[in-house]
Amino acid sequence: MPDPLKINLFRKVCGVDRLAAIGADCRGRGLRVVHCHGCFDIVHPGHLRYLQFARQQGDVLVVSLTGDDAIEKSDGTRPYVPQELRAETLAALEFVDHVVIVDGPTAEPVIRELHPDLYIKGKEYEGSTHPGFLAERELVEGFGGRVIFSSGDVVFSSSAIPENLGEILAHGGDVGGLDETARLTTCCARWDVTPHSLRRLMADGFRGKRVAVLGDAICDHYVFCDATNVAGEAPVLSLRPLNEARYLGGAAIIAAHLAALGAKPHLITVVGQDEPTEEMLARLDALGVTHTTLPIRRKLPLKLRYLVEAQKLLKVDHADAQPLDSANQRTLLAALAELRSELDALILADFGCGTLTTPLLAQALPMLRPHVNVIAGDVSGPRRTLLAFHNADLLTPNERELRSVVGDFDRSLPTVAISLMRQIGLKNLAVTMGARGCLLFRPREDAREDWFHSRLRSEYLPTLASRVIDPLGAGDALLATATLALAAGATLTQAGYLGSAAGAITVGRIGNNPVSTADLQNFLRHRPELAAGHRHAAG
Ligand SMILES: Nc1ncnc2c1ncn2[C@@H]1O[C@H](COP(=O)(O)OP(=O)(O)OP(=O)(O)O)[C@@H](O)[C@H]1O
Ligand SMILES: [Mg+2]
Repeated sequence: MPDPLKINLFRKVCGVDRLAAIGADCRGRGLRVVHCHGCFDIVHPGHLRYLQFARQQGDVLVVSLTGDDAIEKSDGTRPYVPQELRAETLAALEFVDHVVIVDGPTAEPVIRELHPDLYIKGKEYEGSTHPGFLAERELVEGFGGRVIFSSGDVVFSSSAIPENLGEILAHGGDVGGLDETARLTTCCARWDVTPHSLRRLMADGFRGKRVAVLGDAICDHYVFCDATNVAGEAPVLSLRPLNEARYLGGAAIIAAHLAALGAKPHLITVVGQDEPTEEMLARLDALGVTHTTLPIRRKLPLKLRYLVEAQKLLKVDHADAQPLDSANQRTLLAALAELRSELDALILADFGCGTLTTPLLAQALPMLRPHVNVIAGDVSGPRRTLLAFHNADLLTPNERELRSVVGDFDRSLPTVAISLMRQIGLKNLAVTMGARGCLLFRPREDAREDWFHSRLRSEYLPTLASRVIDPLGAGDALLATATLALAAGATLTQAGYLGSAAGAITVGRIGNNPVSTADLQNFLRHRPELAAGHRHAAG
């Protein structure tokens, strides 16, 4: 007797030519048709959530998958799973009604036949200008349907799974990868992220390291208010300022973190001729941050935020871009040239105010590269300078910044990461993702000169924050700490972990405050994934 399960699976898999009839039948019965499309190479928890979300939006779920010949992945090794088996895997899911294999790279042939009521894409497509997606969207809407973005889960990517799976299996860990503490414990054990190794890095490695920070200094100004009522003259919220606070921002807070972590930072930046500038410089002096400043702006860039308790209601940026002219660029280059022989690390931070220009980077990087062990950088917002950080050791853009500079909102995060790393000769990349933590990328240890042609290693670090009060500046804390850790000899995973710890401490406090080694030590003491190491040390 035939296996009833098998028959069921194959009945779900159909050709594109049957979709018009399926669509018409559903519409005839008043059923809402939902459509999803993807490669579904290795089906993972992110896919399940995406498909489940899709099914909840309607009555019948049709999933189309890109056929083997149309999949173009950078390393030529994809798909791992042939299209028939991928279709069978999807058909085995209870909430999937029909599965279809498509020959081209987009879902257009399916949409043309099926006329779905809803076409569901992952959150990362929101705002995407990828031509394939735009064509799909136009078709869906042309047939009277709508495109909806699921909350998505880009943390899990088929590209990252085979390696992670190997590592998890090798350590007898949790294969499902859903228990974050178990995953993190496995990752920490594998890459020597222990209380002992981290303490040694901080105690021996951080102290006295000379780090130059070049970039935009900003004043983050908070106005704490009482929301008194709705105004009388119009239905607008009426605020009453209670008190105000200024925090170091941009390159200034990066330098301040470094000082609090025991390093000797030197800040090179553009400042204003105003009171916030004076206040900032006085604070930096008190923290032991030395500086070279160009007082060429009238006012220090200032970002004003109005809050009621910890809730931000409005942000006003007084931080326009004033790109440096060539004479001022020469002054900054001279300051860097003077420091270069004594630097352990350099951090470049572009917050869009104009201190870092592409010509400045083009001259500074080749001059500094032979002398400075670790060169790191970051941008805030989608900035082209990310592509000018040639041969850097570490960049820490967030996912949106990375995708917009590479111009790719479509392919998997590892593919986009490889693309940037290849383009600029970048050694390590940490893609930060706010509440979803960060992804670390680096070449495999066994890769030689042609490493860009082999696969990257990737490591996912979930956020270490348990309490989020104000996410401002988490990325700056991560960048400062991870760079210092690399300069102290840490591996990328150790550096990423310490950076994430600093980020987690930052999001637990209002405003930007320097994170110290004492803060880090205290934080690490309570981490469950390091518990075994603490017990070991105690015993
Ligand atoms: N809302 C949040 N909840 C939990 N953790 C967070 C949150 N925001 C940031 N983090 C932690 O801080 C790290 C870096 O933050 P994020 O991804 O926001 O960088 P960023 O965009 O460069 O931030 P910023 O520009 O404010 O400095 C994250 O990888 C995560 O570990
Ligand atoms: Mg960042």
